[in-house]
Amino acid sequence: MSPIENKAKRLDTDFVRSQFPAFQANKSKDWIFFENAGGAYVPVTVIEKLNRFFVEHKIQPYGASALSRKAGAEMDEAYVAMGDLLNVHPDEITFGPSTTLNFYVLAQSLINQFSIGDEIIVTNQDHEANIGAWRRLTEFGVVIREWQIDKENGELDTKDLERLITPRTKLICCTLCSNLVGTHNDITTISDMAKQVGALIVADGVSYAPHMVPDLQKLGADFYAFSTYKTFGTHQGIMWGSKAALEMTKTQSHYFNDSVPRYRLNPTGPQHAEIAALSGVTEYFDLLYFHHFGRASKCQTLNDRARKVYQLIAKHETVLANKLLSYLSARPNIRLLGQDRAMVGQRASTISFSIPGLASSDIEKSLANKNIAAGSGDFYARRCLEAMGIDPKDGVVRVSMVHYNTEQEVDYLIDMLDGII
Ligand SMILES: Cc1ncc(COP(=O)(O)O)c(C=O)c1O
Repeated sequence: MSPIENKAKRLDTDFVRSQFPAFQANKSKDWIFFENAGGAYVPVTVIEKLNRFFVEHKIQPYGASALSRKAGAEMDEAYVAMGDLLNVHPDEITFGPSTTLNFYVLAQSLINQFSIGDEIIVTNQDHEANIGAWRRLTEFGVVIREWQIDKENGELDTKDLERLITPRTKLICCTLCSNLVGTHNDITTISDMAKQVGALIVADGVSYAPHMVPDLQKLGADFYAFSTYKTFGTHQGIMWGSKAALEMTKTQSHYFNDSVPRYRLNPTGPQHAEIAALSGVTEYFDLLYFHHFGRASKCQTLNDRARKVYQLIAKHETVLANKLLSYLSARPNIRLLGQDRAMVGQRASTISFSIPGLASSDIEKSLANKNIAAGSGDFYARRCLEAMGIDPKDGVVRVSMVHYNTEQEVDYLIDMLDGII
């Protein structure tokens, strides 16, 4: 086997970590970072681009000066890079300050599509970003139907969805992966069901995108959104809509920007530097690709290369997840959300649990005392916790791991948890 084939068998986490200055910096290097679902570390490719934008061409873009043209060109590059990453046309992409705001604007833009009595399906598993914006439309006569989770494990069952769909269903809004439960929802089945009544799908990819890169031509959603600050980039939200779906939206920008696709669902000015730096994320994926598969390998498109990298990432993250899941599920006093075993493509390495009699916030603090940054609370998926009978004020402990985390870190976490519990 050639060294490249050999390397391609598993993710080289030493190489991965060498791309993230946070693992070398004095203040952060001694921490184990397990709160990635709240915002991930950023590779040097992104930091350098952001820095260079601020230092070399921090100026209103698309003007006459060379500086301004360069600023505009770097933003355009990021639109193209993100389009290539997702296998869509850059004109179908909106960058906004966050996914919450992107969904809010999307909901407003679709108001005219609904008649009184039309139905929107939302879940009680999602982050509130993909619930509240749609529930507001009841003011206009829209009826909300709730696709409810299993009260024990927090998962959604597509059989329950089937019972909710009617000829009046216009929209199904659901997450691809809950930020608490971690199970991947079955978008193919959901999409088949939606098509039968001509409903559109709004897919929240925020907790999915750090673990999977979809080919949006094949995913089955009509709108797909995620937050780049959780996918190794700057603090932005990115939202894609298919050409046909976007044509159903009413522009939300100034009337004179009506014909500019990237402003259609963004009433505010774009964040220049933060957008420009995002081509650093795709550069990072390519670094990983060439490191693991070599320059001569056959993947031609960025989407293909990134999906190949993510196969390695998924395998690695599944090992991490199973280590922690085995420990947690073997303890009778721990309430675990979602599946107790991870399989590639079916469960993300986002693991939430609570322990009756112990405050989740205290567990978070005890872990912090051991230099482990995890999270606790409701993570804005409050309806999910309420449905499961977990007090959302204290919520759950969440350990969210991504590809730069290591097995040694999980071992250390388990040792520390053992002491605390
Ligand atoms: C699953 C999910 N959806 C939506 C959001 C909202 O994203 P943003 O912070 O970009 O508004 C979050 C944030 O944590 C999330 O986890």
